[in-house]
Amino acid sequence: MLPSHVTIVEVGPRDGLQNEKQPVATEHKVELVHRLQAAGLREIEVTSFVSPKWVPQMADNAQVMAGIRRSPGVRYSVLTPNLKGFEAALASRPDEIVVFGAASEAFSQRNINCSIAESIARFAPVVAAAREAGIKVRGAVSCALGCPYQGEVPADEVERVVRLMQEIGVQHIGIADTIGVGTPRKVQAALERALKHYPLAEVSGHFHDTYGQALTNIYTCLEIGVHTFDTSVAGLGGCPYAKGATGNVATEDVVYLLNGLGIDTGLDLDALVDAGAFISERLGRPPIARVARALLAKRAT
Ligand code: HMG
Ligand code: MG
Repeated sequence: MLPSHVTIVEVGPRDGLQNEKQPVATEHKVELVHRLQAAGLREIEVTSFVSPKWVPQMADNAQVMAGIRRSPGVRYSVLTPNLKGFEAALASRPDEIVVFGAASEAFSQRNINCSIAESIARFAPVVAAAREAGIKVRGAVSCALGCPYQGEVPADEVERVVRLMQEIGVQHIGIADTIGVGTPRKVQAALERALKHYPLAEVSGHFHDTYGQALTNIYTCLEIGVHTFDTSVAGLGGCPYAKGATGNVATEDVVYLLNGLGIDTGLDLDALVDAGAFISERLGRPPIARVARALLAKRAT
């Protein structure tokens, strides 16, 4: 039995655009968020309050948050790696924050310049302050299925970080395949470890599609009941600290799969294709999403 409903967390404006070489105008980011919410998305990761020296594309975080016309029922989230980022984010009134750690020591050092243990110690006051302010806290575990620097990442390491996040009060855990190397059995092992510490409704999958495995991996998650996924419109993105990693699995591709399975998402596929085409045009290239390309080609005939 597969779930009857899936929640899509749209991460294109953040995970997607953080990796662009060319500058993306704030107004285009804002317009993208508007189009995504009009397509039915109720969870949107908008930006991150990280160091602008590390990720220049997210330097306009406060402007993007200020520019958004908020739609009732939509949860707007932002990444906050430390208290400095959280304090800066507070003025933007996010509904949710994301602390992001890793199951690999090497990636933790490269991405956030500290060890896993140090990251948890940094996150703890952020989580406490967010919960005190009534802001939900999501945790991301990067490199849960493989690391660009370390290679193999054992499920024990994934579980260790999940447990540490749970102990400091993180309310939702996202298992992330940062470089898209995972295959179903590894996905199942990692997700099962997360499910030892979090209920089904608070575990999500975050798959980059570098090796073309993301849809298969999502199907594997559905079979074990996981029903929340991060996706990126048009297939935008990557991580600046994971060289060669492509974008997240495309929102359009996932919605097409779920529509075919009769699983409700509340999303309008045509409007998503339009949103993806909008931002891809601004970036000067066609959408990476297979379904978007197919539907745009069909429209053109
Ligand atoms: P650091 O250099 O160790 O930080 O960076 P620091 O505390 O030593 O401070 C150094 C300078 O940065 C200081 O400024 C701070 O004020 C400033 P200076 O005195 O030199 O002028 N600073 C900040 N500025 C703005 N906002 C902040 C902030 N913190 C310090 N929050 C830090 C540590 C974590 C800040 C840095 O490593 C960083 O920003 N990393 C972010 C990397 C990133 O955003 N990666 C991509 C997102 S994660 C991802 O994509 C994975 C995910 O999608 C899941 C998956 O796929 O795996 C979530
Ligand atoms: Mg990512």
